[in-house]
Amino acid sequence: MSKSNDELFKQVTSHAKEYGFVFQSSEIYDGLSAVYDYGQLGAELKNNLKTYWWKSMVQLHENIVGIDSAIFMHPKVWKASGHVDGFNDPMIDNKDSKKRYRADQLIEDKITRYQKDGKTAKAEELQNELDAALSSDNLAALKDIIEKHEIVCPVSGTRNWTDVRQFNLMFSTRMGAMAEGSDEVYLRPETAQGIFVNFLNVQKSGRMKIPFGIAQIGKAFRNEVIARQFIMRMREFEQMEMQFFVKPGTEMQWYTYWKEARLKWHIAMGIPAAKYRYHDHAKLAHYANAAVDIEFEFPFGFKEVEGIHSRTDFDLTQHQELSGKKLQYFDTETNQSYVPYVIETSIGLDRLFLLTLCTAYEEQDLSNDEKQDSRTVLHLHPALAPVKAAIFPLTKKDGLPEKAREIMNRLKFDFSLQYDEKDSIGKRYRRQDAIGTPCCITVDHQTLEDNTVTIRHRDSMEQERVAIADLEKLVGDMVSWKNLLL
Ligand code: GAP
Repeated sequence: MSKSNDELFKQVTSHAKEYGFVFQSSEIYDGLSAVYDYGQLGAELKNNLKTYWWKSMVQLHENIVGIDSAIFMHPKVWKASGHVDGFNDPMIDNKDSKKRYRADQLIEDKITRYQKDGKTAKAEELQNELDAALSSDNLAALKDIIEKHEIVCPVSGTRNWTDVRQFNLMFSTRMGAMAEGSDEVYLRPETAQGIFVNFLNVQKSGRMKIPFGIAQIGKAFRNEVIARQFIMRMREFEQMEMQFFVKPGTEMQWYTYWKEARLKWHIAMGIPAAKYRYHDHAKLAHYANAAVDIEFEFPFGFKEVEGIHSRTDFDLTQHQELSGKKLQYFDTETNQSYVPYVIETSIGLDRLFLLTLCTAYEEQDLSNDEKQDSRTVLHLHPALAPVKAAIFPLTKKDGLPEKAREIMNRLKFDFSLQYDEKDSIGKRYRRQDAIGTPCCITVDHQTLEDNTVTIRHRDSMEQERVAIADLEKLVGDMVSWKNLLL
């Protein structure tokens, strides 16, 4: 991370805490590693991001429906899905520092260092070696690479490594009153399986015809070996996933369709296309025959935010075998039954939240010949902003607060609002800029005479005089989901 990007990321994370977007979990007990809480504004922004995804995936697609399945599932689900046997990260311990690392991430860090030092050929060679070791699941090769490139432990600085071992990422607990004799259950590591096991329930009860999709938003849990970069890699996080069931043989066409559609969705938020890139998987997950990541350029480099996976008929076939229940679709046109193929789109809500904050954050210099001035502003899309409008009485007297409250009481059913009468108007504007509120409405003495107010816009900082009677429509048009979805 370059110095300025490093600085920007620090500013974004401290801003997130200072203004009530994200807090470390159990902070008063010194926190719980890689677990975070969303504060009063974070919860609103997160809900808005979920709404954006849900509206565009479910509400705007007649052939996609949404469900909400339980976090706990029958333990056999995870056997069938391959997570019990195959959901592992390669890990390595340093014997001196006693620290544990993901072997592939140690190697990736070395690649980044080679790149920074201008050793492009070395970086490429190491990347090829890493890809080959990962695609053949060769743990010994990973250890050899670490030794050959003299990778040291960041803490002890030594090369005293253990062998590379596999580490299962699923959390487990016991279900039932008694610990002994109770069944071991897992906290789901992905929401997708709740969709697969309900495939026929939804298809039959909803009379869905292939191709169709099932979407859901929910928590997922992974015991990540290394957790870093704030809410980028968490142990408890949220996914927004959609499984699209298609006729076998048509999957690559739908894979291309969703790959393009999902990137367009990101760009529609107003984020420059240059901030995104595709990254084809070198090592395919056990269920996929094609997979691509949509990566976003965070201050710490390009990282995955969303995966598009062609999951074949792997999951449904596995569940059929282990449950003994048929999971097939009857095609009324051909009078044939088949197990559908699946294209999955899977985006991490927390990573989307982080990229939204990083893109929106700006320290703006507003100095002119007369005075030095600056502001911190979040250029959030108005539909996503946690607070849609702030209402200020110019002063705390002369009936202005009462008039401002009257406006607030009219608008509060449709919009999330903040009322503020403390400090100068300038300071109040700055507070709202810092949380991304698209507009501020000021009630002054003229309001009492002609029922007009000043509306000040966040990005342009321009002000206009408007009638109170027009406020609902003005604010409504500004924050409408149509601006994002059309
Ligand atoms: N059902 C497919 C699946 O889970 P994945 O690539 O492992 O695929 C999908 O995860 C998305 O979930 C990722 O692109 C990422 O945005 C998010 N994600 C995965 N692990 C995460 C973690 N530990 N913390 C935050 N987000 C995570």
